[in-house]
Amino acid sequence: MTRHYLMCRPEYFAVEYAINPWMHPEAGADREVAIRQWEGLKSAYEELGHRVSLIDPVRGLPDMVFAANGALVVDGRVFGARFAHPQRAAEGPAYLKWFTDNGYDRVHEPVFVNEGEGDFLTLDHLVLAGTGFRTEVAAHGEAQEFLGRPVVTLRLVDPRFYHLDTALFPLDGRNVAYYPGAFSPGSREVLRHLFPDAVLAEEEDAAVLGLNAVSDGSNVVISAEAAGLQLELKRRGFEVVPVEMSELRKAGGGPKCCTLEIRG
Ligand code: ARG
Repeated sequence: MTRHYLMCRPEYFAVEYAINPWMHPEAGADREVAIRQWEGLKSAYEELGHRVSLIDPVRGLPDMVFAANGALVVDGRVFGARFAHPQRAAEGPAYLKWFTDNGYDRVHEPVFVNEGEGDFLTLDHLVLAGTGFRTEVAAHGEAQEFLGRPVVTLRLVDPRFYHLDTALFPLDGRNVAYYPGAFSPGSREVLRHLFPDAVLAEEEDAAVLGLNAVSDGSNVVISAEAAGLQLELKRRGFEVVPVEMSELRKAGGGPKCCTLEIRG
């Protein structure tokens, strides 16, 4: 099925501050390489037949390339983001404006802190929601009320996996892949109940942001280095599309972070 993704070219990408353990401002990052890798990701989606829309990057917002954090869009309803850190605060209104400019009129201005699809992942019958580092648990109820979909809270406990989308991705509308070590004991139990057939990832695949992947139900766009996880996905019948994201990973992001899915 054709998907619609919103992306933001890393024109002003840089590692200038550290708001997660992946970021080392003293080491920096190579913007030209990041742009090339991002172009590769965009081409991968287009070659799969998906539609990619672009939002203009804003000077002074080096993390704006991580479009997943800009909103959560389900059934054409746009749940706006409100960032935890001041360095990214201006991205929330910038993404909301893109949606209103493009004709989306069911838009919600967020009350509680939430970082969009970084912490909200949508399946057929529910939305999984992360908390612990960025998104406040109160935002989960706020999203449920606006979207009219059940939202299930999952608690993240490992600072390397500070957004839900660094530790889990939906394989299709019904099943997921995840790294159990990123979750609290209670949340691991919830995941086992909801997804008894889930793909369980090893730490070495999680550590290259292998779970920050994008599946359209048949094809999985995934970090090139996540070898073990790719093998398991192939064994389960998925087509694997490896992409090189090493430069963007220096800011703590992979393919999914660069991708905001527009549903409906
Ligand atoms: N440097 C960004 C931050 O820490 C990376 C965001 C990655 N996005 C994501 N969806 N996990 O906020």
